[in-house]
Amino acid sequence: MPRWTPHLIPLLKSGKVKHVGVSNHNLREIKLADQILGEAGFRVEAIQNHYSLLYRSCEHAGILDYCRDQGIPFFAYMVLEQGALTGKYSLENPLPEGSSRAKIYNGMLAQLKPLTDKLASIGEKQGAAAPDIATAWAIAKGTTPIIGVTKPHHVDGLVRASGITLTGDDIAELETLADAANVNTRGFWEQEM
Ligand SMILES: NC(=O)c1ccc[n+]([C@@H]2O[C@H](COP(=O)([O-])OP(=O)(O)OC[C@H]3O[C@@H](n4cnc5c(N)ncnc54)[C@H](OP(=O)(O)O)[C@@H]3O)[C@@H](O)[C@H]2O)c1
Repeated sequence: MPRWTPHLIPLLKSGKVKHVGVSNHNLREIKLADQILGEAGFRVEAIQNHYSLLYRSCEHAGILDYCRDQGIPFFAYMVLEQGALTGKYSLENPLPEGSSRAKIYNGMLAQLKPLTDKLASIGEKQGAAAPDIATAWAIAKGTTPIIGVTKPHHVDGLVRASGITLTGDDIAELETLADAANVNTRGFWEQEM
Protein backbone atom coordinates (compact mmCIF):
# COMPACT_ATOMS: atom_id res chain seq x y z
CA MET A 1 0.00 0.00 0.00
CA PRO A 2 2.70 2.60 0.83
CA ARG A 3 4.28 1.32 -2.37
CA TRP A 4 1.36 2.00 -4.73
CA THR A 5 -0.80 4.70 -3.17
CA PRO A 6 1.70 7.58 -3.73
CA HIS A 7 1.60 6.85 -7.47
CA LEU A 8 -2.06 7.85 -7.51
CA ILE A 9 -1.29 11.40 -6.36
CA PRO A 10 0.06 12.76 -9.69
CA LEU A 11 -2.86 11.09 -11.48
CA LEU A 12 -5.32 12.76 -9.10
CA LYS A 13 -3.54 16.10 -9.56
CA SER A 14 -3.68 15.82 -13.36
CA GLY A 15 -7.36 14.82 -13.24
CA LYS A 16 -6.72 11.49 -14.95
CA VAL A 17 -8.00 9.82 -11.77
CA LYS A 18 -11.04 11.49 -10.21
CA HIS A 19 -11.67 9.37 -7.14
CA VAL A 20 -9.87 6.63 -5.21
CA GLY A 21 -11.54 3.64 -3.62
CA VAL A 22 -10.06 0.55 -2.02
CA SER A 23 -11.27 -3.03 -1.83
CA ASN A 24 -10.43 -5.82 0.59
CA HIS A 25 -8.43 -3.49 2.81
CA ASN A 26 -8.47 -3.79 6.60
CA LEU A 27 -8.89 -0.75 8.83
CA ARG A 28 -5.15 -0.16 9.21
CA GLU A 29 -4.68 -0.21 5.44
CA ILE A 30 -7.67 2.06 4.82
CA LYS A 31 -6.31 4.59 7.31
CA LEU A 32 -2.84 4.40 5.81
CA ALA A 33 -4.12 4.95 2.26
CA ASP A 34 -6.24 7.85 3.54
CA GLN A 35 -3.24 9.35 5.32
CA ILE A 36 -0.96 9.09 2.26
CA LEU A 37 -3.60 10.66 0.02
CA GLY A 38 -4.55 13.16 2.74
CA GLU A 39 -1.01 14.58 2.82
CA ALA A 40 -1.59 15.65 -0.80
CA GLY A 41 -5.12 16.94 -0.20
CA PHE A 42 -7.00 13.86 -1.42
CA ARG A 43 -8.75 11.01 0.36
CA VAL A 44 -10.11 7.50 0.08
CA GLU A 45 -13.65 8.01 -1.19
CA ALA A 46 -15.06 4.48 -1.26
CA ILE A 47 -14.56 1.12 0.42
CA GLN A 48 -15.70 -2.16 -1.15
CA ASN A 49 -15.53 -5.26 1.06
CA HIS A 50 -17.37 -8.52 1.67
CA TYR A 51 -20.26 -7.90 4.04
CA SER A 52 -23.32 -10.05 4.59
CA LEU A 53 -25.38 -11.51 7.42
CA LEU A 54 -22.93 -14.43 7.39
CA TYR A 55 -19.79 -12.33 7.14
CA ARG A 56 -19.72 -9.28 9.38
CA SER A 57 -15.99 -9.00 9.95
CA CYS A 58 -15.91 -5.40 8.65
CA GLU A 59 -18.45 -4.45 11.28
CA HIS A 60 -16.57 -6.26 14.05
CA ALA A 61 -13.28 -4.68 12.97
CA GLY A 62 -14.75 -1.16 13.19
CA ILE A 63 -14.65 -0.47 9.43
CA LEU A 64 -18.36 0.35 9.20
CA ASP A 65 -18.07 2.78 12.12
CA TYR A 66 -14.99 4.35 10.55
CA CYS A 67 -16.81 4.82 7.24
CA ARG A 68 -19.82 6.33 8.99
CA ASP A 69 -17.64 8.71 11.03
CA GLN A 70 -15.57 9.77 8.02
CA GLY A 71 -18.49 9.94 5.57
CA ILE A 72 -16.96 7.30 3.29
CA PRO A 73 -19.46 5.13 1.38
CA PHE A 74 -19.09 1.41 2.17
CA PHE A 75 -20.04 -0.81 -0.78
CA ALA A 76 -20.94 -4.30 0.43
CA TYR A 77 -20.30 -7.19 -1.90
CA MET A 78 -21.54 -10.79 -1.63
CA VAL A 79 -24.51 -9.63 0.44
CA LEU A 80 -26.43 -12.69 -0.85
CA GLU A 81 -23.42 -15.00 -0.42
CA GLN A 82 -23.48 -15.82 -4.14
CA GLY A 83 -27.09 -16.97 -3.91
CA ALA A 84 -26.83 -19.07 -0.74
CA LEU A 85 -28.83 -16.47 1.23
CA THR A 86 -31.67 -16.20 -1.28
CA GLY A 87 -33.49 -19.27 0.03
CA LYS A 88 -33.83 -20.74 -3.44
CA TYR A 89 -30.96 -23.16 -2.87
CA SER A 90 -31.53 -25.99 -0.41
CA LEU A 91 -30.51 -29.60 0.26
CA GLU A 92 -33.17 -30.60 -2.31
CA ASN A 93 -32.09 -27.92 -4.79
CA PRO A 94 -28.37 -27.28 -4.23
CA LEU A 95 -26.17 -24.83 -6.10
CA PRO A 96 -25.16 -26.09 -9.54
CA GLU A 97 -22.93 -29.15 -9.24
CA GLY A 98 -19.33 -28.50 -10.25
CA SER A 99 -19.56 -24.72 -9.72
CA SER A 100 -17.19 -22.99 -7.32
CA ARG A 101 -20.28 -21.73 -5.46
CA ALA A 102 -21.41 -25.31 -4.87
CA LYS A 103 -18.07 -26.24 -3.31
CA ILE A 104 -18.28 -23.36 -0.87
CA TYR A 105 -21.95 -23.33 0.06
CA ASN A 106 -23.63 -26.68 -0.56
CA GLY A 107 -22.15 -28.14 2.61
CA MET A 108 -23.69 -25.39 4.73
CA LEU A 109 -27.20 -25.14 3.25
CA ALA A 110 -28.75 -27.11 6.13
CA GLN A 111 -27.26 -24.70 8.70
CA LEU A 112 -28.52 -21.74 6.68
CA LYS A 113 -32.14 -22.90 6.53
CA PRO A 114 -33.39 -21.25 9.77
CA LEU A 115 -31.90 -17.97 8.56
CA THR A 116 -33.25 -18.16 5.00
CA ASP A 117 -36.66 -19.19 6.38
CA LYS A 118 -36.63 -16.11 8.63
CA LEU A 119 -35.63 -13.88 5.71
CA ALA A 120 -38.59 -15.31 3.78
CA SER A 121 -41.06 -14.88 6.65
CA ILE A 122 -40.05 -11.26 7.26
CA GLY A 123 -40.36 -10.71 3.51
CA GLU A 124 -43.85 -12.25 3.31
CA LYS A 125 -45.23 -9.58 5.62
CA GLN A 126 -43.91 -6.87 3.30
CA GLY A 127 -44.62 -8.39 -0.10
CA ALA A 128 -40.93 -9.09 -0.55
CA ALA A 129 -38.70 -12.12 -1.00
CA ALA A 130 -35.84 -13.48 1.15
CA PRO A 131 -33.04 -11.88 -0.93
CA ASP A 132 -34.79 -8.51 -0.74
CA ILE A 133 -34.67 -8.75 3.05
CA ALA A 134 -30.99 -9.75 3.08
CA THR A 135 -30.34 -6.70 0.91
CA ALA A 136 -32.54 -4.46 3.09
CA TRP A 137 -30.54 -5.64 6.11
CA ALA A 138 -27.27 -4.51 4.48
CA ILE A 139 -28.86 -1.12 3.69
CA ALA A 140 -30.13 -0.84 7.29
CA LYS A 141 -26.54 -1.34 8.47
CA GLY A 142 -25.47 1.76 6.55
CA THR A 143 -23.90 0.06 3.54
CA THR A 144 -24.62 0.26 -0.18
CA PRO A 145 -25.01 -3.32 -1.43
CA ILE A 146 -23.57 -4.37 -4.79
CA ILE A 147 -25.80 -7.26 -5.79
CA GLY A 148 -24.80 -9.65 -8.56
CA VAL A 149 -28.09 -9.75 -10.47
CA THR A 150 -28.28 -12.46 -13.14
CA LYS A 151 -31.96 -12.25 -14.12
CA PRO A 152 -34.11 -9.23 -15.04
CA HIS A 153 -36.52 -9.85 -12.13
CA HIS A 154 -33.64 -9.53 -9.64
CA VAL A 155 -33.69 -5.82 -10.38
CA ASP A 156 -37.28 -5.66 -9.09
CA GLY A 157 -35.94 -7.16 -5.85
CA LEU A 158 -33.45 -4.33 -5.52
CA VAL A 159 -36.23 -1.78 -5.95
CA ARG A 160 -38.28 -3.55 -3.24
CA ALA A 161 -35.26 -3.80 -0.92
CA SER A 162 -34.58 -0.08 -1.16
CA GLY A 163 -38.10 0.63 0.17
CA ILE A 164 -38.05 -1.82 3.10
CA THR A 165 -37.47 -0.67 6.67
CA LEU A 166 -36.53 -3.46 9.04
CA THR A 167 -37.26 -3.14 12.75
CA GLY A 168 -34.54 -3.44 15.36
CA ASP A 169 -36.10 -6.78 16.37
CA ASP A 170 -35.95 -8.06 12.76
CA ILE A 171 -32.27 -7.14 12.54
CA ALA A 172 -31.45 -8.70 15.91
CA GLU A 173 -33.29 -11.94 15.05
CA LEU A 174 -31.58 -12.21 11.67
CA GLU A 175 -28.14 -11.64 13.18
CA THR A 176 -28.79 -14.18 15.94
CA LEU A 177 -29.79 -16.82 13.38
CA ALA A 178 -26.81 -15.90 11.18
CA ASP A 179 -24.41 -16.29 14.13
CA ALA A 180 -26.09 -19.59 15.07
CA ALA A 181 -25.42 -20.93 11.57
CA ASN A 182 -21.76 -20.76 12.60
CA VAL A 183 -20.28 -20.76 9.10
CA ASN A 184 -17.25 -18.97 7.73
CA THR A 185 -17.73 -17.60 4.22
CA ARG A 186 -14.48 -15.65 3.98
CA GLY A 187 -13.28 -15.79 0.38
CA PHE A 188 -9.91 -17.34 -0.41
CA TRP A 189 -8.77 -13.91 -1.69
CA GLU A 190 -9.81 -12.08 1.47
CA GLN A 191 -7.65 -11.37 4.48
CA GLU A 192 -8.81 -11.38 8.10
CA MET A 193 -10.22 -7.95 8.88
N1 LIG B 1 -13.91 -6.78 -4.67
C1 LIG B 1 -14.02 -8.10 -4.63
O1 LIG B 1 -13.09 -8.82 -4.25
C2 LIG B 1 -15.31 -8.75 -5.03
C3 LIG B 1 -15.48 -10.11 -4.81
C4 LIG B 1 -16.70 -10.69 -5.14
C5 LIG B 1 -17.72 -9.92 -5.70
N2 LIG B 1 -17.50 -8.59 -5.92
C6 LIG B 1 -18.57 -7.76 -6.52
O2 LIG B 1 -19.78 -7.99 -5.88
C7 LIG B 1 -20.80 -8.26 -6.85
C8 LIG B 1 -21.77 -9.27 -6.24
O3 LIG B 1 -21.11 -10.46 -5.91
P1 LIG B 1 -21.68 -11.89 -6.30
O4 LIG B 1 -22.47 -11.78 -7.54
O5 LIG B 1 -20.55 -12.83 -6.24
O6 LIG B 1 -22.57 -12.27 -5.05
P2 LIG B 1 -24.05 -11.93 -4.52
O7 LIG B 1 -24.53 -10.59 -4.96
O8 LIG B 1 -23.99 -12.26 -3.09
O9 LIG B 1 -24.94 -13.11 -5.21
C9 LIG B 1 -25.30 -13.08 -6.53
C10 LIG B 1 -26.20 -14.29 -6.81
O10 LIG B 1 -27.39 -14.16 -6.06
C11 LIG B 1 -28.49 -14.52 -6.84
N3 LIG B 1 -29.42 -13.36 -6.84
C12 LIG B 1 -29.13 -12.05 -7.02
N4 LIG B 1 -30.23 -11.29 -6.89
C13 LIG B 1 -31.26 -12.15 -6.63
C14 LIG B 1 -32.66 -11.99 -6.40
N5 LIG B 1 -33.23 -10.78 -6.36
N6 LIG B 1 -33.39 -13.09 -6.18
C15 LIG B 1 -32.83 -14.31 -6.17
N7 LIG B 1 -31.51 -14.53 -6.39
C16 LIG B 1 -30.74 -13.47 -6.61
C17 LIG B 1 -28.00 -14.89 -8.21
O11 LIG B 1 -27.95 -16.32 -8.24
P3 LIG B 1 -28.39 -17.15 -9.53
O12 LIG B 1 -27.50 -16.67 -10.64
O13 LIG B 1 -28.12 -18.56 -9.12
O14 LIG B 1 -29.82 -16.82 -9.78
C18 LIG B 1 -26.60 -14.34 -8.25
O15 LIG B 1 -25.70 -15.16 -8.96
C19 LIG B 1 -20.06 -8.78 -8.08
O16 LIG B 1 -20.76 -8.48 -9.24
C20 LIG B 1 -18.73 -8.04 -7.99
O17 LIG B 1 -18.81 -6.81 -8.68
C21 LIG B 1 -16.33 -8.00 -5.58
